[in-house]
Amino acid sequence: MGDEGDFARRFVLDAPMLERVAGALSLSKGADVTLSPSNGAAAIALDVGCGEGRFCRLMQAHGLRTVGIDPTQALIERARERDPAGDYRIGHAETLDVTPGGFDLVVCYLSLIDIPDLARAAVAITRALRPGGRLLIANLTSFNTAGMPDGWRHEPFGRLRFSIDRYLEERAIWVTWRGIRVRNWHRPLSAYMTAFLDNGLELRHFAEPEPTGGDPAKIERYRRVPWCHVMEWQRPTS
Ligand SMILES: C[S@@+](CC[C@H](N)C(=O)[O-])C[C@H]1O[C@@H](n2cnc3c(N)ncnc32)[C@H](O)[C@@H]1O
Repeated sequence: MGDEGDFARRFVLDAPMLERVAGALSLSKGADVTLSPSNGAAAIALDVGCGEGRFCRLMQAHGLRTVGIDPTQALIERARERDPAGDYRIGHAETLDVTPGGFDLVVCYLSLIDIPDLARAAVAITRALRPGGRLLIANLTSFNTAGMPDGWRHEPFGRLRFSIDRYLEERAIWVTWRGIRVRNWHRPLSAYMTAFLDNGLELRHFAEPEPTGGDPAKIERYRRVPWCHVMEWQRPTS
């Protein structure tokens, strides 16, 4: 992935995700102390499934302190190489070993689809948030994962179509991405919504961002089918 990011990150998700981070931070400087830690230190974000830590570094550039957690040792090693002063830890979303209520912001940037036990992860993520803290999610839409691994198909006469199937059936899917085999999970959208609603989180924002640049053929594909969404949830203050 490097620091540049792929098409989805660079041209679809980074801007709306960083806008939400900046928005939450600017609220913290105003009357609504949404992201303001009580001791006056910089707000602190936990990036769950941080991979190489790319989004941690983008958040640091916005003035946040960050902790990145990922179970894949090679990715954590790469994050540390790229950011020796950064805080990157091996860990799983389901068993987050962090201070309860210790984070103003938790981010799951394209990681929920990788996490096997969503219900346990939602409990652990909620526990990590301080009251009033935010959970910011970028995910593949469930309509998209229902088409994996090969939703795009040429029909007779060459017409390209995206087909989905077994939408309500939660399942693991093996996909190949840039030569790496990855296990993703398809879950209906209600599974994600229920996981966070069941933990008392409140939905503050939902968006299906459009591509803002890059290869025109990719832009066309991203506009033809549901692809990514961004959600922001808040832990109630009391
Ligand atoms: C698609 S990558 C996204 C990485 C990073 N957030 C980014 O945007 O580049 C998904 C990440 O989820 C991690 N992951 C897999 N299982 C996990 C789990 N149980 N808990 C937390 N992260 C997990 C993977 O190691 C991988 O780094």
